[in-house]
Amino acid sequence: MTFARLSAVLTLALGAVQSANAAITKSVRCASGHVTANAACCALFPVVDLLQSSLFDGAECGEEAHSALRLSFHDAIGFSIHGGKGGGADGSILVFNATELKFHANGGIDDITAGQFPVFQQSGLTPGDFVHLAAAVGTANCPGAPRLEFMFGRPPPKAPAPDLTVPEPTDSVTKILERFADAGFAPPEIVALLSSHTIAAADVVDVTIPGTPFDSTVGTFDTQVFLEVLLKGKSFPGNGSQPGEVLSPLRGEMRLQSDFELSQDPRTACLWQAMVNDQTRMQTQFKAAMAKLQVLGQDVKRMVDCSDVVPVPATFKGPIKFPATFSQRDVQQACPELRFPTLQTVAGPAPTIPPVPGS
Ligand code: HEM
Repeated sequence: MTFARLSAVLTLALGAVQSANAAITKSVRCASGHVTANAACCALFPVVDLLQSSLFDGAECGEEAHSALRLSFHDAIGFSIHGGKGGGADGSILVFNATELKFHANGGIDDITAGQFPVFQQSGLTPGDFVHLAAAVGTANCPGAPRLEFMFGRPPPKAPAPDLTVPEPTDSVTKILERFADAGFAPPEIVALLSSHTIAAADVVDVTIPGTPFDSTVGTFDTQVFLEVLLKGKSFPGNGSQPGEVLSPLRGEMRLQSDFELSQDPRTACLWQAMVNDQTRMQTQFKAAMAKLQVLGQDVKRMVDCSDVVPVPATFKGPIKFPATFSQRDVQQACPELRFPTLQTVAGPAPTIPPVPGS
């Protein structure tokens, strides 16, 4: 099917969603047996099953789940509250991939767009609904994650986002804060969104070591990344120093320059440190910031709240710990006014963090 024809079909489907939005408010039982707040959401349960079986290897918190979350950010952030940029959370990165994947900041995104495209074509959803549902479902596969919201009813994207909307790890803190502010996000929301780097790895910062994680617990949505970015660096995980990375505390781990600088800058250091070992704070703030990100540029009044189709993530209670051999004396604390949490240290020798499989 051509993209124009697909768009026409999707626009019709969207009309049905929008009239359902006005008409239905009480909970319904779908033919599949699922219960949801709105009959329009019944169409999504088979898509959730399809995502889990065809994309996420049977509901795993693996490479595809991580990349689906990254894709939702790179799609949505192509937007400005002042106008003149892209359509926001509209799925343009998926269908205008020939344009958007050429942007330097979208390095490594090609694997997930290639993986998602055939599943998207089977789903019957618009590109925007598909990209942002996939992110919510993939994230839910990670223990400790909040259950993200999902709003249903994005129209098809009109055009690719322009280049230079996605922050780069080589950007200064000022440049990062300015770009996010242009998209409508304040510093606490930026730090909250960076909770995502707890289930993240780099493929292209250093191409010699694909799948190099940002923390030692890359399969768990915990606050470990906020701790490990604060630990003194000792070595580079791969082929020496690459643009966008700084010395890492653990072997096999990558510390992004942007994460490190945000953890040290007076505008964000206390926000960063406050996340360490505060699972509830991280979950609450990440969920709220993602809810905003995933409808950027969209007319929310014309959408249906289908959050109850998103699977309930397994819990992670914590507490987190210092990696083996590390302790408080290794912390590069940049927010002295906030007491640093008391944490135990994992027993044993200093670990080497393995790469994420399938990267
Ligand atoms: C200052 C802003 C940000 C910068 C500079 C940044 C930078 C990066 C870089 C360089 C990578 C590794 C790419 C590679 O080498 O493959 C990455 C991975 C990732 N990022 Fe970000 N990021 C930012 C914000 C975000 C946000 C807001 C989200 C989501 C809400 C996000 C989610 C992810 C995820 C999940 C991955 C891992 C993907 C995978 O493992 O396949 N990032 N990020």
